Amino acid sequence: MTVADASDATTTVTTATTATTATTATNVTKVRPALPVVHRRADLPAQVRIWEVGPRDGLQNEPSIIPAPLKAELVTRLVGAGLTTVEATSFVNPAWVPQLADAEEVFSLLVPLRARSDLHLPVLVPNLAGFERARSCGVRDVCVFASATETFARKNLNRSRAQVLEMLAPVVAEAKAEGMGVRAYVSMCFGDPWEGVVRETDVVSVCERLLELGADEVSLGDTIGVATGGQVVDLLDALARVGVPPARLAVHFHDTYGQALANTMTALACGVATVDSSAGGIGGCPFAKSATGNLATEDLCWALAGAGVETGVDLDRLVETSVWIAARLGRPSPSKVVQALAGPRGQEDPTATRKESEADSEHAAQDARRDMPEAER
Ligand code: HMG
Ligand code: MG
Repeated sequence: MTVADASDATTTVTTATTATTATTATNVTKVRPALPVVHRRADLPAQVRIWEVGPRDGLQNEPSIIPAPLKAELVTRLVGAGLTTVEATSFVNPAWVPQLADAEEVFSLLVPLRARSDLHLPVLVPNLAGFERARSCGVRDVCVFASATETFARKNLNRSRAQVLEMLAPVVAEAKAEGMGVRAYVSMCFGDPWEGVVRETDVVSVCERLLELGADEVSLGDTIGVATGGQVVDLLDALARVGVPPARLAVHFHDTYGQALANTMTALACGVATVDSSAGGIGGCPFAKSATGNLATEDLCWALAGAGVETGVDLDRLVETSVWIAARLGRPSPSKVVQALAGPRGQEDPTATRKESEADSEHAAQDARRDMPEAER
């Protein structure tokens, strides 16, 4: 992140833009005052890795099917805004999540990005069938997912909690043997809509098992967005006590009760340095109706920019992307930062742009086909 000095900035108080070039920085400061003011928080990591989940966690929950070229364009725009890890899609059973049944097509449209070694485009795989599909598409990073609770394991993966772990063991082993990056999600870490309170020991044992299987890191999912700060501290402490350091963890907060940013900042102050979020705050889980959108990436970036934490994200380009996808999804972004920075554009009636959206899809498809090697078209 480039930090552009304000005209009378001192060394301790500077103004932040997230632009990556001097030219962009000039443009950014022209369109809005150079805010937020930076006050470095020494209790936070100097740098945070943002794991963008919008194209997967966001689009899996849409009532309508978004065309593959539009999905690929979303990923491309997010990368253009400086995000280097973008969860691109999901190779789950298409009968369970028809919204992402086009995973192969989406991944094939991402050929230009896949050639870049600085980018990660992880995908969700629930079992060996999903893993084989992902491998044959040239995926380099996979995410498996388990549940801290019995009920959600059955609802989300049609298996008991123990059977889910059995199903994931060969997936993690195969992925590691192929030299892939492997993340494991644990859902319902802070509360479950059917079971209520979730025992910390259950969360800890699932995390330990996933790391034993060979996962590089575990993302702690607050699937229904009910966590509060003290609970986050206690869970991270419990994990540290069994030898799971914050460096092996990421946090994944949904924002149902408006606590996602507060919980994330708490986790960062405890040493976690990888945060999941979705552009514009889109998201949810079709198998837990009380799951709403994820922490908005813009809200996270604003808070981190103010705290002097490096993310590499160009906030203005990200807001543009969220306004763009909100128009295509037919509703404004729930992110406060998007609303504040986009102004009336973020609130405009998105249905007015539906036709434009169809035309965009065709253009995106044409662009992607042009960039692809001939054999893959
Ligand atoms: P199942 O129906 O028990 O599967 O589903 P099965 O093994 O009995 O197979 C049934 C048929 O599906 C077979 O075909 C398989 O080949 C096929 P048939 O022989 O009948 O012709 N099949 C597949 N086809 C394509 N790709 C596959 C696949 N797997 C089986 N991967 C299964 C079990 C796990 C597959 C299913 O429950 C499933 O796909 N679940 C995924 C649910 C999901 O995607 N949930 C949302 C993502 S998780 C989330 O959002 C939480 C997170 O964000 C963190 C948080 O917020 O907490 C990560
Ligand atoms: Mg989620």
